[in-house]
Amino acid sequence: MLTDDYSGPYLKKFAIPFSKGKISDWDTKREAILKIHDRHKDNMVEGEQMSDYGTNRQYHFLLEAILMDDLINVKNQFGIDKQIRINSAWFQRYNKAHAHSVHNHGFGGFSSVLFIKFDPEHHKPTTFVAPFLNNIDGNVLEYIPTDVEEGTLIVFPTSLQHYVPPNTSDIDRLILSMNIN
Ligand SMILES: [Fe+2]
Repeated sequence: MLTDDYSGPYLKKFAIPFSKGKISDWDTKREAILKIHDRHKDNMVEGEQMSDYGTNRQYHFLLEAILMDDLINVKNQFGIDKQIRINSAWFQRYNKAHAHSVHNHGFGGFSSVLFIKFDPEHHKPTTFVAPFLNNIDGNVLEYIPTDVEEGTLIVFPTSLQHYVPPNTSDIDRLILSMNIN
């Protein structure tokens, strides 16, 4: 929670909300989430990557139960007073050459990415694109999160642009995407 709007040469009030952390008790939760994935994976459709985004999914209720402690943690980090809910969730699998071009999740509340199958040796995390240009050179300003591993949850504003570079390896990359508000 931001206590002062201004600190040093930075206007904190305009900072981008961004949380990166590890899911607690990941091994147990990973298994529970993979069970949901396995039950629904045949619904995935191939576009830029494999995704069940376009299908009638209802498993966000199940994910709320599994990830309750982690959602409370996110809520506390951002200083949100009200209850938060997962209002939609979908899986995305990146086989070799799969990518996701720059996009956002609309406006209002938070989006998230949970890395389920992720090999830092072979995979790249999501790249985030600032809603403003670099103040020194006017270039597009990007952020690639560090220390991403399986079980890392990143939470960001729904309107923040992001993309996934092509998977150049033969190892699949699997993430769970959730919109939260
Ligand atoms: Fe996304």
